[in-house]
Amino acid sequence: MKPVSSIVVLTGAGISAESGLSTFRDNNGLWCDHRIEDVATPQAFARNPKLVQDFYNMRRAQLASVEPNAAHIALAQLAERFQGSFTLVTQNVDNLHARALAGRTLRSHFELLPMHGELTKVRCSETEKIVNWQGDITPQSQCACCYETGTLRPHIVWFGEMPLYMNKIMRALQACDLFISIGTSGNVYPAAGFVQEVKRAGHGKTVELNLEPSQGHSLFDERIYGPATQLVPKFIDELINTTI
Ligand code: APR
Repeated sequence: MKPVSSIVVLTGAGISAESGLSTFRDNNGLWCDHRIEDVATPQAFARNPKLVQDFYNMRRAQLASVEPNAAHIALAQLAERFQGSFTLVTQNVDNLHARALAGRTLRSHFELLPMHGELTKVRCSETEKIVNWQGDITPQSQCACCYETGTLRPHIVWFGEMPLYMNKIMRALQACDLFISIGTSGNVYPAAGFVQEVKRAGHGKTVELNLEPSQGHSLFDERIYGPATQLVPKFIDELINTTI
């Protein structure tokens, strides 16, 4: 592989599947048991806040029973060793990338960008202030900034809302030599369009590592299929041994 100075990795629910967290669109995925319009839109939250809070309380509680897997750890090792620019963009709201990175000495040009928000944070609907949050959000949960109850919402980007860090992400996509998409079905934009942004910039190699071909599989220069815990450590090892 030719020398690489700037990498963007995009991850989706598939990278956390082998840690025991459900994906969305696989068999028995989250969208099999819940309708998006009931639990993942601002309108759903206005209509039935308890149903929405319960959905995210359940997912937040699950974090205590899962661990980062070999794929998360391989990316964390890359963040320690790669001396170029490494932007890890995740669509996932679990904290498994952050936990795999914790305690490591990360290179200065590394950033983790959770573009769909984070289960372990909540947001005040009055002030937009974001704070860390571990337990359930209940109607009695008091906001730390306005001391009101009933104003806290999950810090999650719902359908119809603008994903986070998009300016940083677009700049990284346009500058990168290597774009690796891991564990995402390519169903949801803008993330599903990132591969086209790299191709439009004209100098980045694009790679898909997934259990099965995604919606946009034909757009990738290289496509490798299998479980993330097998593909990602192998791919990252080869990348580190050939370009660093
Ligand atoms: N290893 C690698 N890939 C896997 C594995 C695995 N062990 N298990 C599943 N996958 C792949 C599936 O083949 C699928 O292509 O992960 C992908 C998961 O796709 P989705 O369930 O659609 O999840 P994702 O692509 O992350 O969804 C994007 O949609 O609903 C919204 O906000 C939600 O962030 C989410 C976004």
